[in-house]
Amino acid sequence: MFPRTRMRRLRRRELQPLFKEIHLHKDCLIAPVFIDERIQDVTPIEAMPGQCRYSILKVSKYAIHLRQLGIRTMLLFGIPTLKTERADTAYASDGIIQQSISGIKKAVPDMVICTDVCACEYTTHGHCGIIGNSRDGQDIINDESLELMSKIAVSHARAGADIVAPSCMLDGVVFWIRAALDEVGFDNVLIMSYSTKFASSLYGPFREAADSAYTFGDRTTYQMDPVNGREAIRESRLDADEGADILMVKPAGWNLDVLAMVKTIGLPVAAFQVSGEYSMIKAAAERGWIDEQAAVTESFHCLKRAGADLIISYFAEDMARWLDEES
Ligand code: PBG
Ligand code: ZN
Repeated sequence: MFPRTRMRRLRRRELQPLFKEIHLHKDCLIAPVFIDERIQDVTPIEAMPGQCRYSILKVSKYAIHLRQLGIRTMLLFGIPTLKTERADTAYASDGIIQQSISGIKKAVPDMVICTDVCACEYTTHGHCGIIGNSRDGQDIINDESLELMSKIAVSHARAGADIVAPSCMLDGVVFWIRAALDEVGFDNVLIMSYSTKFASSLYGPFREAADSAYTFGDRTTYQMDPVNGREAIRESRLDADEGADILMVKPAGWNLDVLAMVKTIGLPVAAFQVSGEYSMIKAAAERGWIDEQAAVTESFHCLKRAGADLIISYFAEDMARWLDEES
């Protein structure tokens, strides 16, 4: 073969753009946003430098800013004033997320709104469902929590959410939410399932941001063990069968093999670059150990290459700006 085949011909400097297999576009970006009912203004999140929590009023202004940057999709997380044992404030019609959705839609009617559907920000114990006694001790009771998730999803749809995103990793939750939405006429609301969600060490900063740390145990009886690849595909395939419109792999960067396999199921796939991935890049960049823009751009390219249609990332806003600077 050598010297007839010379790969470096393809890498001649002025020819490089011709052979790029991936082009990032703003349309694939989803910006996660924290909205805090307890604050009046904008509060920085210590464990996630550059990220903030917004009050209900301020989040509409932030949505205008994001839309002007060319970002068309937000993923909302809410922090309520009142937490209860059974997450009652999560589905209140005047809850933090429900109010924020109306505010954002008024300010930016064409903003696509996704909402995280879970209980952990709303429960006193910080777990993602209703707690009870299982045969292995205290745990989330699966079927009892499904009703709660349906109520939360329907309340978000009522407020105007376009896409609901159950993140609790309970069995049957996609089926239940689909049925509940359809029953009240929200057949056009999409479900983006956190279909393969690992019990990861990389959610640490998020738990500060969303005030959702658990008070006992861990999440390994509902979130997946990161060593299990085949189980990861089963999880996503099941959610597809239950009626999910979009599948998700989370955390994205350490699970590109899973992302590529989930892609073969055939549904659109979202890659969630989680809080720990964000904070690791930020921390190294702050010390001057890596180039932030180069590292983030590379990470996005690799997520796309692995099969991501959508990228959920705390760097979405930065990326939109960098894409503008490039063009
Ligand atoms: C709520 C939820 C979590 C994340 C998204 N939705 C936390 C968790 O499951 O512990 C993590 C997101 C991130 O780390 O950026 N269930
Ligand atoms: Zn949760």
